[in-house]
Amino acid sequence: MEDLKKVAEIVKEKGQVVAFTGAGISVESGIPTFRGAQGLWERYDPDEYAHIRSFLRNPEKVWMMLREMAYLIFEAKPSPAHLALGELERMGFLRAVITQNVDGLHHEAGNKNVIEYHGNHRWLVCPSCHSKKPFTRESLNVFPYPRCERCERALKPDVVFFGESIPLDAMIRANEEAKNCKVMLIIGTSGVVYPAAEIPYISKAYGATIVEINLERTPFTNSITDYFFAGSASTYLPEIVKLLK
Ligand code: APR
Repeated sequence: MEDLKKVAEIVKEKGQVVAFTGAGISVESGIPTFRGAQGLWERYDPDEYAHIRSFLRNPEKVWMMLREMAYLIFEAKPSPAHLALGELERMGFLRAVITQNVDGLHHEAGNKNVIEYHGNHRWLVCPSCHSKKPFTRESLNVFPYPRCERCERALKPDVVFFGESIPLDAMIRANEEAKNCKVMLIIGTSGVVYPAAEIPYISKAYGATIVEINLERTPFTNSITDYFFAGSASTYLPEIVKLLK
């Protein structure tokens, strides 16, 4: 508890907090993580289901996983952790959320400055002619997959598959926020996917205090983390908000 009080004092004194979030923050919202015992990649080999090459080769197969994920995302509500980050922004402490998640739950929790590093699930996009349309529940009832009205190709959610590049505006904004933040909260990420995992290292290099919340230790923990809280984001983040009130 002492460390939590210390983190709240640092946040109060410095402000300029940036949250870097991963799948762990959405577990309590009903969306599985990718890695670990119940992880999505335990059931779907990412090489076969999450690489753009696999999607283009066999969209019908990849849409089986996409449909399963989309059902969970459409049903999901923000966790207490998402809501706590919304509160931190409203209180003026949090300047941005940089998320690897595509579930849109930070927006739903009220955060305004959200950088979606891996895109988002709210749109469908054509990999060939790049036309876009909203990803609605109705799209899930189109078999074997929704098609582009212009070129008939299989549409994909507007998320970054392995083998695709990070949206340039997200990359630029994320690097700026990482450099300018005074406190970085690393929440619920295994820290193994690049270039996203570079972000906390940038903040450390620019002198930020690094606070990490995760059930397990990660590559960040023994290298750049100053305060590590082993447990659920939905336990610790509301506690930090309470200490700041
Ligand atoms: N609170 C905090 N952390 C949690 C919780 C929780 N309640 N539950 C799980 N975690 C942690 C796990 O210990 C793990 O370290 O969340 C992390 C989830 O790791 P991953 O499943 O690897 O998710 P993430 O780090 O977001 O993956 C990064 O990989 O597959 C790609 O594009 C995908 O954006 C994703 C990227």
